[in-house]
Amino acid sequence: MRFSILLSTIFIGFFSHTAYVSGQTIHNSTAVTGFLDCLGDSISNYKFNIDEGEILVMPADNRSPNCTTRDNLLLNCIMRYHDYLNIVLYGSAYGDDTVSSSFVAAELNDRLSSHAISTVPIRRRSTNNFLKGRSGSRSKRQAVNGYYESYPATDDSCADNDQQSYFAGDCPSFASKYTSIEFYNPEPQAVLTAYVWPHHDCSQGNEKGYVAGPFGYTSCPKRDTYSWKGSFTNAASPWPCIGSLC
Ligand SMILES: *[C@@H]1O[C@H](CO)[C@@H](O)[C@H](O)[C@H]1NC(C)=O
Ligand SMILES: *[C@@H]1O[C@H](CO)[C@@H](O)[C@H](O)[C@H]1NC(C)=O
Repeated sequence: MRFSILLSTIFIGFFSHTAYVSGQTIHNSTAVTGFLDCLGDSISNYKFNIDEGEILVMPADNRSPNCTTRDNLLLNCIMRYHDYLNIVLYGSAYGDDTVSSSFVAAELNDRLSSHAISTVPIRRRSTNNFLKGRSGSRSKRQAVNGYYESYPATDDSCADNDQQSYFAGDCPSFASKYTSIEFYNPEPQAVLTAYVWPHHDCSQGNEKGYVAGPFGYTSCPKRDTYSWKGSFTNAASPWPCIGSLC
């Protein structure tokens, strides 16, 4: 009897402490505001959603994102807040539940305030910061090797994973599903966007795009995945220098 009272006291103490700690870092609203400001006038080209701990950003005109062309500013803004916000690109070429319940940017902070899962990224592996790592030497060299590492796993937290190398643009496609995956960007001067599909052959839309800076890792999304494709965008220009943000 005495023992169980003691135990419950310990558990109450533990849970209230945990709640307090996560309450401090659940959403970084300064970074959310900074990210939305970074998008400037192009903000109306996007719609938003929140899925578990991910802030989904998708083109408002129902298409797949393209970070080297129309969505280059979006990629730059994601990279700028990469350490503080778990922002994920979403391909909205085909309607689904996520797209139909999406909302405009002005609603993001309000929606986050009632979302109880943290959107501050916790990456399984350490990410080298491009700016710290480069210490000021920003050459305009393009990606040199053009390959990236993928770590698909059959558990839901990237623990039981495999290492596979692919060239950007390839589409590995598997008959049976992986249930989580993360990616590593070995390029010194390029941002990797790795798109994952819950379908075969990198088709049918609904892809999610995860971003990794030079020598960095993406997060580990828990998602049924059958195919994926990596895409590099030159990191030196314009990111991390975008106009007035330089
Ligand atoms: C929130 O994000 C800003 C960048 O907008 C950063 O400077 C600040 O340190 C972050 N706060 C926390 C608690 O990580
Ligand atoms: C983005 O668009 C360019 C130009 O049309 C194209 O070459 C490239 O493959 C596209 N990238 C992706 C990831 O779709």
